[in-house]
Amino acid sequence: MAADGFKVFPGRLDGSAQAGLAEIVFAAAQVAPFYRPVTPGGRPMSVRMTNFGPLGWVTDAAGYRYQALHPETGRPWPAIPATLIDLWRGLAEAPDDPDCCLVNLYDAQARMSLHQDRDEADFRFPVLSVSLGDSAVFRIGGKSRKGPTATVRLASGDVCLLAGSARLAFHGVDRVLAGSSRLIPGGGRLNLTLRRAGPA
Ligand code: SIN
Ligand code: FE2
Repeated sequence: MAADGFKVFPGRLDGSAQAGLAEIVFAAAQVAPFYRPVTPGGRPMSVRMTNFGPLGWVTDAAGYRYQALHPETGRPWPAIPATLIDLWRGLAEAPDDPDCCLVNLYDAQARMSLHQDRDEADFRFPVLSVSLGDSAVFRIGGKSRKGPTATVRLASGDVCLLAGSARLAFHGVDRVLAGSSRLIPGGGRLNLTLRRAGPA
């Protein structure tokens, strides 16, 4: 199971902060639309994605990587919202700000299979993520794919940190609990993942 560096900050964002952030995300998605990424193996993901910041995480037939431009519009990603930078400064204990915010949009059927976040240059920087909207059953394990795992429910406003010995922990989303939140019109879950992708 995940070692010490895995932390959940339940309800770190209150209702009005959640609503404000969701509004910012959907406004930015007018410029950088959600799209359905394809795995290197050619499978469309169930989660839709976009990014904020100088670098965005993408996947396609060429593999996983970070890039400065939206793969469909060819335009730079919108800036990372200031509230998220502030959150990182408060919790990440990192010398530099994040340069990427991956935005995942889950509908009731979407899930994310167990994986490590390991496309970044420097694993001394943690991964910090914010959940908005419907709750998720989040699965967290250790550094080995085969090791034991546990689940934790992430609700709207919860913030989750993968740092230190948990930085390379396997994790994923088993399922989204449709109807558990009214934050997002029509339902769904947003996960905003802050990372330092480039070198310090
Ligand atoms: C991810 O690992 O990219 C997403 C995690 C989450 O949705 O909580
Ligand atoms: Fe991840």
